[in-house]
Amino acid sequence: VIARTLHADVPYGSSADGAGKTALFDYSSPNVAKPFHIGHLGTTVIGHSLKKLHAFAGWHCIGINHLGDWGTQFGKLIVAYRKWGSREAVEKGEIDELVALYVRFHAEAEKDHTLEDEARAEFTKLEHGDAENLALWKWFIEISLREYKKTYALLGIEFDSYNGESFYTDKMPRQVEILREKNLLTLDDGASIVDLSKYNMPPCLILKRDGSTLYPTRDIAAAVYRMDTYHFDKCVYVTSAGQSLHFAQWFKVVELMGYDWYDKLVHVPYGTVSINGEKLATRTGNVILLRDLFSMAIEKVTALIEQKNQKLENKDEVAEAVGVGAIVYYYLSNSRIKDISFMLEDALSFDGNTGPYAQYTYARTCSILEKTGRGASAEECRGAVLSEPERALLRTLSMFPERVSLALGEYEPSIVTRYIYEVCSDFNKFYHECPIANAETEALRALRIRITEAVNDVLGNALHLICMRT
Ligand code: ARG
Repeated sequence: VIARTLHADVPYGSSADGAGKTALFDYSSPNVAKPFHIGHLGTTVIGHSLKKLHAFAGWHCIGINHLGDWGTQFGKLIVAYRKWGSREAVEKGEIDELVALYVRFHAEAEKDHTLEDEARAEFTKLEHGDAENLALWKWFIEISLREYKKTYALLGIEFDSYNGESFYTDKMPRQVEILREKNLLTLDDGASIVDLSKYNMPPCLILKRDGSTLYPTRDIAAAVYRMDTYHFDKCVYVTSAGQSLHFAQWFKVVELMGYDWYDKLVHVPYGTVSINGEKLATRTGNVILLRDLFSMAIEKVTALIEQKNQKLENKDEVAEAVGVGAIVYYYLSNSRIKDISFMLEDALSFDGNTGPYAQYTYARTCSILEKTGRGASAEECRGAVLSEPERALLRTLSMFPERVSLALGEYEPSIVTRYIYEVCSDFNKFYHECPIANAETEALRALRIRITEAVNDVLGNALHLICMRT
């Protein structure tokens, strides 16, 4: 096990299973000008972790942020901005001001229903290329992206493409034409739909009465574009389970259209997130922004560092890695499909099975190796006899490749998170029971150094697979 861990040409646990194959990951994909909140944590970190797992297995991976940058919400925002907003306020308040405008729109529209019509009209103008609306729209996106990218930077995430929904505007007519040619469209009260009753699903909406396109229309055009552009072997979509029907519907439509790659489309759903037992509601503003959640965690770590380790040189860097890591680990400890109630206090608690505990264990292996030096050889270990904590730890290390491939196969990063916890527990038991630097014999000392190196290697890779810094 140790030899495989330390002396392979490729990282232990990685494989070439995906060599020559391309996987696309459509994840995070927030809706511009709506708050980027705790509910988006799932798609963002599950998506990124799945991408990393695939890369680890040799796949060529592309990350796509399918920004929600098109739709009637822009009509609403434009109306709200003209009525109650100002350039200065938006420049200053950035995305918060946009969200405030959006929330205000909904509050006012409750009282005055004509606002909804106004918003629709503004969006139609936008669709027809009205210069003023286009400029506003671009500006709203720019402001939102600036904000998202700060959060992505904290998580170490970069996307290969930010082609959002608007990118497919000119690519939809061709797909609608094909749907028509294949006699798949039926009219329903003026709207064009694909009847899916044969497959026990409600119809897939393609065009509204006024001819405007819908969310599924854009997804179909995007899938075709991606196949043409990247020739993917799979295209993975990570969204909340609330969208499972949407994906099942348009996957079926793609199949009916005769695209033989329909079975390369994969939807990976995850459960809902509530905070301290309360549901999230964007429209009323009852959300916790991801940014604020991360800030809370970082502040807490900063305070702890001030208390315990004032002289630490890279305080900010450590506070960020530990704070953000705590949240990510907490979230990715759960099976993705389970609904989770995000208990802020637990997420920010650093005891027991937590991100900080895992990072601490990793750091511990580093400091041991700093003292003892690395690179003990197999020869030097000859004659050493394993005791039970060592045996248990090695058994756990031996399972890494299997767990990685299970996590990939089931699209389940929590398998890696749980594995990390096992390694940490086993290592800490080993560390307490088996002296390393002062081992009884030279052979044992060499062996334990090698074991520590193996743990260091496996833990480091595993933490990176779940978007945590070491
Ligand atoms: N923007 C959508 C949302 O926030 C998610 C998009 C998921 N990707 C897709 N290709 N439909 O709900």
